[in-house]
Amino acid sequence: MAPLPSPQVCVTGGGGYVASWLVKLLLSRGYAVHATVRDPCDPKNAHLMQLDGAAESLRLFKADVLDSAALAAAVEGCEGVFHVASPVPADKIVDPESEVMVPAVKGTLNVLEVCSSMKVRKVVVVSSTSSVYFNPNWPQGKPKDESCWSDKKLCVEKKLWYSVAKTVAEETALEYGEKNGLNVVTVCPCLVFGPQLQPIVNASSELLIYVIKGGPNAMVDTLLHIVDVRDVADALLLVYEKQESSGRYISAPNYIKTKAMLELLKKAYPNYNYVKCKANVDQNSPLTPISSAKLKNLGWKPRELEETLLDSIEYYRKTEILQDAEGEGQACRLPDLFQILNAAEE
Ligand SMILES: NC(=O)c1ccc[n+]([C@@H]2O[C@H](COP(=O)([O-])OP(=O)(O)OC[C@H]3O[C@@H](n4cnc5c(N)ncnc54)[C@H](OP(=O)(O)O)[C@@H]3O)[C@@H](O)[C@H]2O)c1
Repeated sequence: MAPLPSPQVCVTGGGGYVASWLVKLLLSRGYAVHATVRDPCDPKNAHLMQLDGAAESLRLFKADVLDSAALAAAVEGCEGVFHVASPVPADKIVDPESEVMVPAVKGTLNVLEVCSSMKVRKVVVVSSTSSVYFNPNWPQGKPKDESCWSDKKLCVEKKLWYSVAKTVAEETALEYGEKNGLNVVTVCPCLVFGPQLQPIVNASSELLIYVIKGGPNAMVDTLLHIVDVRDVADALLLVYEKQESSGRYISAPNYIKTKAMLELLKKAYPNYNYVKCKANVDQNSPLTPISSAKLKNLGWKPRELEETLLDSIEYYRKTEILQDAEGEGQACRLPDLFQILNAAEE
């Protein structure tokens, strides 16, 4: 009997931090993967074809999410699509419309329209807890769940452009699915840490590197929600494979305050400089965590925070990203995306 053909799926933005782990996972599970990248010849995407099984089962397609024809070529023949591509800028956003809004929102719509026309069975869209978190009307202390949406007006007022873009993109994706009979599920990861497969440092890894190396800005002692990049990949595949999955899924399994995280890191690696941490003004107000119960009920089993943090440091040590921190501790920068954690901004 001839073997069954591999199920074929597409991953947008395949060379990025989260997507690279997803491509690796899909290949290891026997999927044939079409990964879109903006420049297949860029060395920053070279790691993809080095993944186990890539030679036989991975094809790269050149596609910007604003180019529907290029997206269609990548999606053709796929039963599922993981829409991961979206800008996560570490630098200050100068023009929110062109830098984040259009690629996040119009890019998502383009992917969904292509999926509808190609009769794709299921689309998993990567959103963010940025589209959950900023809701001043949510009762203090009550864990935030999938019914909690960030207040777009508040995000605009605070110039949280990334959050505005992710919130509108996720709303648009779910609405599009409802209206057009397309099976769309979203996953909202919190801050993603863990080892990288891609050679360049992405924005969330840059934050952890800043925490370890230290630099000019002190950080606030606030609640950080952290998920392992490998667990995000697991979550994306889980919601794809589970027939019953629907709506949004928060993936924010671990939380810790900045100071406590620093203590945990210092215990294992005492010799780095580490960022300075200031106590919060509203120290005594109740902390409102975010719940991942819906995803866990689907069968998601994320790892412990300590493993994520220690594996991250081991990766940075192996790649010598932290090398200069062991000597004089050369300063690096707090990515602009995380200015909300900057104590000076309080
Ligand atoms: N890392 C986190 O802490 C975190 C947390 C929550 C949610 N997320 C979400 O997870 C997803 C992946 O983020 P990441 O952390 O893996 O960041 P990343 O490594 O910077 O990946 C972002 C990817 O999006 C692609 N992209 C950006 N604009 C594009 C466009 N116009 N057309 C096509 N591709 C485009 C990038 O391609 P190029 O390489 O060509 O620029 C890159 O592959 C994003 O949707 C992000 O919002 C991340």
